[in-house]
Amino acid sequence: MSTLKRTSGIHVGIIMDGNGRWAEARGQRRVDGHREGARAVRRVVQAAPGLGITTLTLYAFSADNWLRPASEVATLMSLFRHHLRTESAGLVEQGVRLTVIGRRDRLHPALVHSIQRAETVTRAGGVLRLRLAVDYSARDAIVQAARRAAIGPSMAYMDRTVFAGLLGEAVNEGEAVRDLDLLVRTGGEQRLSDFLLWEAAYAELLFVQVMWPDFGPVELARAVAEYRNRERRFGRVIDQAG
Ligand code: IPE
Ligand code: IPE
Ligand code: MG
Repeated sequence: MSTLKRTSGIHVGIIMDGNGRWAEARGQRRVDGHREGARAVRRVVQAAPGLGITTLTLYAFSADNWLRPASEVATLMSLFRHHLRTESAGLVEQGVRLTVIGRRDRLHPALVHSIQRAETVTRAGGVLRLRLAVDYSARDAIVQAARRAAIGPSMAYMDRTVFAGLLGEAVNEGEAVRDLDLLVRTGGEQRLSDFLLWEAAYAELLFVQVMWPDFGPVELARAVAEYRNRERRFGRVIDQAG
């Protein structure tokens, strides 16, 4: 374990990819894959605190996913709403605080209402911070932060820390979410697809073949174990003995 490794909890981000292919491989519809994917989310959220994860950011719907067929988008949106409503009580019980990052102005008002409600009722959760990225684009988030910086009074003091405080929900909460420690993408593709570009500056990257609906506590534990075996150097030279 490297000396630079923090002992405190880690921030894991997951690009939950492969729902469609999982379903197609079974002769099912893509939306069936999304339904099964929602179950995988529940399993992973339950397992995360036991693995030392204190912040978990899940990529659920990208700003570019609006380009998918309307029926698939509609199913995804209704799945989000359904699960926000049915899972909130369980999240409270588990001490999970949920926030949703991304744009809200293109979401159906009923979904926005469900998001606000889930965020409010889970607010006191101190075990796991769960961030769900919906209508999210990292580049848009950076542009948005740049706009805030331009109209704010603190341009002369602008640095990484100040800028990070202008990203996403940090604006409302007054403190930035810590940088990503581990970024996992399921489904075999090896790209970021506009997810957390700023926060992933020094994240360890892990691309796994397993499709998201098949991802569970075992796969998450394996990913965290892989992360703990990596040596994070942050630009420095680690072995300075002798
Ligand atoms: C990820 O699975 C879920 C979303 C992007 C909403 P996909 O739907 O992208 O599944 P594949 O990549 O087509 O298999
Ligand atoms: C990224 O997956 C977005 C989510 C998992 C929510 P995509 O399936 O949309 O990404 P691309 O199109 O393969 O890059
Ligand atoms: Mg995909």
